[in-house]
Amino acid sequence: MKVLGLDIGFGHTKVVSDGVKMKFPTMIAYAPNDPYAELDVVNIAGMSYVVGRDARFSQFGIEIPTVAELVKYAPVFLRYVTGILGEFDVVVTGLPPNCKAYVPVLKQNLESVASGTQFEILPQGVGILYDVMDKISDEVIIVDIGYNTVDCVVAKEHQGVWKKSQVVTFEGFGVMKCVELMRDILPQSLEFFRNRSASRLLDAFERGYVMLDGEKVALDSFKAEAQRKYGEILMAKIKQELKGDYRAMAQVVIAGGGAYYIDPKQFGSGVYVPQEPEFSQARGYYKCGKEE
Ligand SMILES: Nc1ncnc2c1ncn2[C@@H]1O[C@H](COP(=O)(O)OP(=O)(O)OP(=O)(O)O)[C@@H](O)[C@H]1O
Ligand SMILES: [Mg+2]
Repeated sequence: MKVLGLDIGFGHTKVVSDGVKMKFPTMIAYAPNDPYAELDVVNIAGMSYVVGRDARFSQFGIEIPTVAELVKYAPVFLRYVTGILGEFDVVVTGLPPNCKAYVPVLKQNLESVASGTQFEILPQGVGILYDVMDKISDEVIIVDIGYNTVDCVVAKEHQGVWKKSQVVTFEGFGVMKCVELMRDILPQSLEFFRNRSASRLLDAFERGYVMLDGEKVALDSFKAEAQRKYGEILMAKIKQELKGDYRAMAQVVIAGGGAYYIDPKQFGSGVYVPQEPEFSQARGYYKCGKEE
């Protein structure tokens, strides 16, 4: 049985299948009407799209700012993946926990491009729970730090069954907030750079330097300070929202790409960060599909 774990994030789509792992920017664009352009094109319902890195630099880009667009264009991302990896028997994917209402329409949209495939749609965070299940105790807070959102799932195991007791989403608390914190403390000499778009700043934040008059200017110290502040802000937000649950829980799991920018010690002693945390969700979806 061929299973796909598909995690469509607002920043990147992560894909896990038998011995395969890949990610690409969650971006699409209408394909240019240029027979010489060497781009992989996805055709759906009479429309041609380019996906991922190729779409990033297109002038005909379609943004995926909310769950509504994500649900609408999910078939394009799926077809892009099946174009590379072939068709699947089972596809497990997810939506933010507060978006249950979109589940039927997402399922229907996906089925429209893969009629022989069985789809399962889980609340995001549950993928991570599957991924780390055999490495954690029976009570856990899962924190998924994405580019835009942070999802927290509080779950408890009783007689082999995991139950979610609380699920919350913080919009705008993902890595973008850390990047904004760095923007805020950049010195006067980098004034020109402060005004760049969020995505340009993110690139520089990830690289750790900017080019100024042909010279590399290191951002390490600003980045470190932003990360420290970010960890504190996020920690306080989680404590405030989860109240007693946070203190009572034995274990915290931090995943999503934002886990790279967090010092786990800031979150207490019982913190577990899975390896390649940005793939944790997709790995868990895959594992879930394999077990059924
Ligand atoms: N391998 C990596 N090394 C360093 N940073 C990374 C890595 N992977 C991801 N990140 C950072 O983590 C951020 C969040 O990545 P992730 O893929 O978890 O977000 P997402 O799932 O697309 O977003 P959201 O959950 O908000 O929809 C990225 O914007 C990037 O800055
Ligand atoms: Mg995510």
